Amino acid sequence: MRRAIVSELRAAVAPPPPPLQVIQVWEVDGPTMERFLRELAQEKPVRFTAQQLCTFTENYSTLLGCGGFGKVYKGQFPNAVKIAVKVLNRGANRNIEEQFMAEVGTIGRTHHINLVRLYGFCYDQFMSALVYEFMENGSLDKHLFSETQVLEWENFQEIAIGTAKGIAYLHEECQQRIIHYDIKPGNILLDSNFSPKVADFGLAKLCNRDDTHVTVTGYRGTLGYLAPEFMLKNFPITYKCDVYSFGILLFEIVGRRKNTRAGGSGESLDWFPKHVWEEYEKGDLMALTEACGIEEKDRINAERMAKVALWCVQDSPEARPPMSAVVKMLEGGVEITPPPKPFHYLFSVGTDVLKPPSGSWSSSGYSTSDGTNTYWYKETTTPVMSKYGIQVASS
Ligand SMILES: Nc1ncnc2c1ncn2[C@@H]1O[C@H](COP(=O)(O)OP(=O)(O)OP(=O)(O)O)[C@@H](O)[C@H]1O
Ligand SMILES: [Mg+2]
Repeated sequence: MRRAIVSELRAAVAPPPPPLQVIQVWEVDGPTMERFLRELAQEKPVRFTAQQLCTFTENYSTLLGCGGFGKVYKGQFPNAVKIAVKVLNRGANRNIEEQFMAEVGTIGRTHHINLVRLYGFCYDQFMSALVYEFMENGSLDKHLFSETQVLEWENFQEIAIGTAKGIAYLHEECQQRIIHYDIKPGNILLDSNFSPKVADFGLAKLCNRDDTHVTVTGYRGTLGYLAPEFMLKNFPITYKCDVYSFGILLFEIVGRRKNTRAGGSGESLDWFPKHVWEEYEKGDLMALTEACGIEEKDRINAERMAKVALWCVQDSPEARPPMSAVVKMLEGGVEITPPPKPFHYLFSVGTDVLKPPSGSWSSSGYSTSDGTNTYWYKETTTPVMSKYGIQVASS
């Protein structure tokens, strides 16, 4: 499969004859460029030269930000379509062109309304870079943690649902499952309508694993969002690590604060997720949402979001719901079953805490063969009703 993608990519980039993908983009007129971009929208990513990227970014004059993988610059194509160019920190291994192109080929064919589009890439002797669509409203963290709030709570709820759909697509609908490894508000970008798109998926594959921006067992990620299994040697890391990080993101939406924690221990008494669990245990989630400054009209949704978050951060990866279930639970129209106590890992060491809770685990896992997820929620309405957000009035 990979070999097929590599040869296809090779064919796509090999001159001559010059295929559509390697035309000198900065020399073409507007309509040609429009057509090119339209085709690009259904096709594979374009290979750009370093010279082209330099032109598009006006010699890298506008820095948008920098993260663990490299620096991001603003630019535009000659027809004024705005782009973001991420210049990757390259590890010691400079001979991985084929692998890089194969991975970009896979990621570049991953299209979903809640994933940032990859227009193309550059790979040569000196640089590796990725060219993305430009997201007008930047990253979610800037809106979530800023003093001056432009967005309403409902907007954040929509953002959470859209993000969950994007991750569900990566995990459950792509031909090859993509694990993000770095879900956090900085990697959720907002377009001009504040619609969320997940960024940086597949990046963990493109960069050298040992060139990490967080060195926990050699994997990428950001402290505070890392699932507990990263702290254990030889514990298998699955796609459920993204579900944990997404749960932490949900806590941040409910609390409108960063859940930073000094380390893997539970010494920080003020850790918001733990506080949410304590309030939930006491049956006081509603009061907690009020204390978080959430308006009355939004509190039922916020309470639901907190419950979903408690499910997402279960110690055992198996006990965390798959993202498609998370979408359903966030959208409402299903009855969420009570989450068990999470965060045992803060107080005890060893792999036992990450095992599925005894009694409830079956060999087929938590999802039944017909795809229902009865462990996490129960259907209360017909699928059509839940799709349109119609709920049965309780008597
Ligand atoms: N496609 C884009 N459109 C607009 N701004 C972007 C885009 N991609 C990245 N940015 C901006 O650049 C900043 C840095 O992004 P970058 O991905 O390098 O770092 P990060 O997301 O904070 O960390 P990480 O390395 O874990 O992804 C982001 O916070 C965002 O504001
Ligand atoms: Mg990022």
